[in-house]
Amino acid sequence: MDEIMVLAQEYDLMVVEDCCQAHLARWNHKRVGNFGAFGAFSFYPGKNLGAFGEAGALITNDKEWYETAKMIRQHGETERYNHKMVGHNYRMAAMQGAVLATKLKYLEEWTRKRQKNARFYTELLENVEGIHTPTELEGTDCVYHLYVIRARDRDGLQRYLQKNGVATGLHYPIPLHLQEAYTHLGYRKGDFPVAEKAARSILSLPMYPELTEKQIRYVCDKIKAFKN
Ligand SMILES: Cc1ncc(COP(=O)(O)O)c(C=O)c1O
Repeated sequence: MDEIMVLAQEYDLMVVEDCCQAHLARWNHKRVGNFGAFGAFSFYPGKNLGAFGEAGALITNDKEWYETAKMIRQHGETERYNHKMVGHNYRMAAMQGAVLATKLKYLEEWTRKRQKNARFYTELLENVEGIHTPTELEGTDCVYHLYVIRARDRDGLQRYLQKNGVATGLHYPIPLHLQEAYTHLGYRKGDFPVAEKAARSILSLPMYPELTEKQIRYVCDKIKAFKN
């Protein structure tokens, strides 16, 4: 975020932070969503704070942008029957608000549990040949929506874990520049080698607050048993 904010200032750009899976995370001791003009959070059911259906929120520290966002959300309406612009219907269902307000009380506790699970994974996998565990930088607070390792033989390891009853995920196997939706930008394979290498080697292990030490140990034992 530090570098992005410097660039944004230089080129007079507005920054919208995608913190969709980073509820309560910190960068440089500061909560995400507070660096740019807006922070965008997803409350998709699987997120650290998840509704029972589709939901999300914007946060901002700017009163004017807050008013504008509110207006766009409600068909451009400023006060009843008065529409200043053509907006959209981006209202969240009230039912989701009720679910989120209840779950919000547990978010800190659930986050601590995710962090504890992540630390345990890292401890067990730290020196395993062919496996890289995530690194936490000084001043950050990682909230582990996912626990992503890198593996030398990722596809082989994923198949092996699947056979042993461990579901894993790929977030994500195709980098943005190789998605069909962005072919018009003209990028090709090899243009972003770091992203491409990451897409080939990343593997998301099971992660949620209620994971037990026994389950984590089982997953790690299977990873160690696989000849990477
Ligand atoms: C980083 C990131 N950005 C954006 C989104 C999209 O959020 P939603 O599914 O609520 O539109 C997600 C969720 O999958 C995400 O993880």
